[in-house]
Amino acid sequence: MRYEKIKKRDLIREAFFEEALEIITGKLTDSHLYVELDQPPTELSEEKIRQLKRRIDGKFNRVFNSAEGKNHWHDRHLSIAGENFTEELLEKFIAGESAANGRRRCLVTGGAGFIGSNLVDALIERGDEVAVIDNLSSGKREYLNPRAKFYEVDICNRELIADIFAEEKFDYVFHLAAQIDVRVSVADPALDNKINVLGGLNILENCNKTKVKKIIFISTGGALYGEAEEVPTKESHPTRPLSPYGIHKLTFEKYLHYYSAVFGQKYIALRLANVYGPRQYKGGEAGVVSIFVDYAVNGKKLLINGDGLQTRDFVYVGDVVDAITTATENDYVGEINIATGKETSLLEIIESIEFFLGRKIAKEHLPAKAGEQRRSALDYARAKEIIGWLPAIGLSEGIKKTIEWASGRTER
Ligand SMILES: NC(=O)c1ccc[n+]([C@@H]2O[C@H](COP(=O)([O-])OP(=O)(O)OC[C@H]3O[C@@H](n4cnc5c(N)ncnc54)[C@H](O)[C@@H]3O)[C@@H](O)[C@H]2O)c1
Repeated sequence: MRYEKIKKRDLIREAFFEEALEIITGKLTDSHLYVELDQPPTELSEEKIRQLKRRIDGKFNRVFNSAEGKNHWHDRHLSIAGENFTEELLEKFIAGESAANGRRRCLVTGGAGFIGSNLVDALIERGDEVAVIDNLSSGKREYLNPRAKFYEVDICNRELIADIFAEEKFDYVFHLAAQIDVRVSVADPALDNKINVLGGLNILENCNKTKVKKIIFISTGGALYGEAEEVPTKESHPTRPLSPYGIHKLTFEKYLHYYSAVFGQKYIALRLANVYGPRQYKGGEAGVVSIFVDYAVNGKKLLINGDGLQTRDFVYVGDVVDAITTATENDYVGEINIATGKETSLLEIIESIEFFLGRKIAKEHLPAKAGEQRRSALDYARAKEIIGWLPAIGLSEGIKKTIEWASGRTER
């Protein structure tokens, strides 16, 4: 059997490289791949197993034309049935030449920031080649993954951005660089427009020129829908942004649609809810979870605008990164909410922080902010249906991880 020449273990490792699962044994026949994992999938959450199954299905369907649904998991064992495990395909797969499974050349704009740096780590972990463009206006050099190529460049710089795209020939572009402070956008709408529309357009034009396979744009949910008539809010809800930040995120989505309809540029716009977790910027207008955690860990009094019963949809950064990496793996073009669908009040966040710290935190209620949105949560049914994504980390687990990070107990 000529398959014997092939390093089966490498093949199998390659197939699972992004899942951080240890393989104990692997066996390959003409029609099946059998794998034994060191960890029974039953120790993973149900959502995580679903995500794993879907990804593995996706990979094997593309490379080996194995039919979806033919894969079976039992205890630590997974068997994948393939219709044509040909030698040529296997060799390509091992050599990483397959378009679907080879080392992809990725660009992350904003890759030194909170979500971007977490994303870069995950892409590198799965074996992609990653370049980062960031001007470090809010991102941090220490968050940059040393295995990523770093360009300290402003996305508005037309010449340098064109040079980078021509040189690197990216397969996928993850566009996260942005002016993210809603208050700054209100004080200086033209600045927000320059970065979030014109800067984005500079990236998009280069994607189109250099034939990038797909651009994944990190958009926003809450700031697009405005005061929603239905909560959790679906993507089909009318968009009525109430800030220049929301207007400009929506404008860029319109540009994506235009480039797709007219030039065939593929894209996905992920409309995120309120993201929280390790590396979130702690000052200014940062996410409320990171501010509260920072104040609580450092023994400072929490300042709450209004009664604290206003709600938001808090989604953990690890889940968001999972959604972003998954978005490259199908042909869907359009907008998708990434959220938990649950409303959580600020007081509930504080209770959860108090629970993990094991003590009460001093707090003071300030007058309610004029015009502040009262309720917000996004419906994630489309994400579930189209990219097979579900939030896996619950609020208490996410808050615990954020507190551990803020207390300096975990790496970075
Ligand atoms: N954090 C959230 O809750 C949330 C929610 C919805 C959408 N988003 C979107 O996610 C993306 C990432 O946000 P984040 O929370 O990680 O914020 P962040 O401020 O940590 O990340 C933004 C990054 O972009 C970089 N940047 C800003 N302007 C730039 C420019 N002109 N040129 C090059 N780099 C520039 C910053 O230095 C920073 O590293 C943004 O597009 C934001 O609008 C975030």
